Amino acid sequence: MARRSAGRRIRAERADDGPQGSRSGQERAPPSPVVEPPPVVYLLRSVSVETATIHLRTMAHGGLAVGHPTGEAASLRDTWFVAGALPHERVRALAERRRRGAVFARAVEILQASSDRREPPCALAGVCGGCDWLFAAPDAQARFRRQVVSEQLRRIAGLEGVQVGTLAVGEAPELGYRRRVKMHYLRGEDGAFRLGFRRAGAHVLEDVTTCPVLTGALDAAMQRVRALADRLPRQGNVFGLDVGGRVVLGLSGVRPTPEIVARCEAMLDELVVGIELRGGRMRRHVGVTRCIVDRDASGTGVRVGPFSFVQANAEVNAALVERVRAHAAGDGRVLELYAGAGNLTRAWACRSRRGMAVEYDREAAKALGNLVRARRWPVAVRRGRAERVVAALRGEGERFAATVVDPPRAGLGEKLVADVCAVTEDVVVYVSCDAATFARDAKAFRGHGFELERVEVADMMPQTSHAELVGLFRGTGRRS
Ligand SMILES: C[S@@+](CC[C@H](N)C(=O)[O-])C[C@H]1O[C@@H](n2cnc3c(N)ncnc32)[C@H](O)[C@@H]1O
Repeated sequence: MARRSAGRRIRAERADDGPQGSRSGQERAPPSPVVEPPPVVYLLRSVSVETATIHLRTMAHGGLAVGHPTGEAASLRDTWFVAGALPHERVRALAERRRRGAVFARAVEILQASSDRREPPCALAGVCGGCDWLFAAPDAQARFRRQVVSEQLRRIAGLEGVQVGTLAVGEAPELGYRRRVKMHYLRGEDGAFRLGFRRAGAHVLEDVTTCPVLTGALDAAMQRVRALADRLPRQGNVFGLDVGGRVVLGLSGVRPTPEIVARCEAMLDELVVGIELRGGRMRRHVGVTRCIVDRDASGTGVRVGPFSFVQANAEVNAALVERVRAHAAGDGRVLELYAGAGNLTRAWACRSRRGMAVEYDREAAKALGNLVRARRWPVAVRRGRAERVVAALRGEGERFAATVVDPPRAGLGEKLVADVCAVTEDVVVYVSCDAATFARDAKAFRGHGFELERVEVADMMPQTSHAELVGLFRGTGRRS
């Protein structure tokens, strides 16, 4: 195919000095964004300005295509991990960071394009760090996610040839789906206010005036924050949650002074129905900031606010809840870890089924407790760390037919897997947002006699390399 430019003009100063912009609810606080990139000369001290022609072979965990230099390159043995490229492409790539034999790079010219490449449906593709796969066709994105999961299971868990499925979802739009977002803002010395995401591979803040992956309501509501610019600190974060066509906003690090409260009150209307201000220990709710989302056929939903964890995609989440329902079906006791406000608890709890749900966030545990009481489910809600609670349950000799877990990216770890296996009789249903830690834990489950029976990818965040997984592990009776 003809030569093409890799999306927007790629600039040498866009060196990768940090992780890609956050995409899940469990992200760490990002480093402070800066207005302009540091001068090139400053960056050159820590990065090599090396370009090479790379032939890409496959897709790696994290959304980078992997390949080796061809022809003239200095070290043909180096493995290159290239952002903005796809398997089977030949690209000119700019090295940004080296670690032993691995070179992390960015495609600056597409020499031979894959048939999976398409024109990105966003003007900021390749610049804004919010989405890393805008240039890949939707079916290719889904295929790459499955391949990455399969490869992680092979390399880390030693599981060869696992059939990784895709969770079927009735209506799954590729744009306008995202109902929850965190944006950064920054007011420069010149008074200019920027609101958006960090640039791909950098800490520089890209001003985003519209974002096509957000729901229409959320996209419009986020822009309203600009009206508060003169009352906000120099920099900070804004959280937005679409609660069904209406939006609640959360501003962290903002003291609720009478002036800003008055401005927030004046902003409320049919679109923005509530704003929560959090500054130090002070909190102020302006309008309605707590809403019920995701009501199912029985009318059961979960109560959340702008700072709550909520799965980003309502349609895919509904399918995920149904898959957990099927995997955890039965009448024995259930243990659920990392339960949040009860999104997955709804999948197994009923008046005739006993269980326990564990969550450490105070507000989420409270919402879960209220849900359990309102529905009269015989479920004990424990507020605490999953690791401690399960270790104690093991010590007490407690047993559950099924355990449902939905941890942050770090996954469970060796010790918690051992404890979960000790208290679980039949199945573990594992919802994960990180294929590598899922694979690591799959290996540990195996060691304790639980085999991976089924795994599916939920395409929760189209246009990104993020893969949400749901796995079913079944006890074989062969326990360590
Ligand atoms: C990925 S979210 C899942 C929440 C819920 N299952 C859902 O679908 O909305 C992870 C949850 O685990 C909680 N959490 C994080 N670390 C924890 C820990 N060590 N023990 C218990 N809960 C934890 C977080 O507060 C968050 O609610």
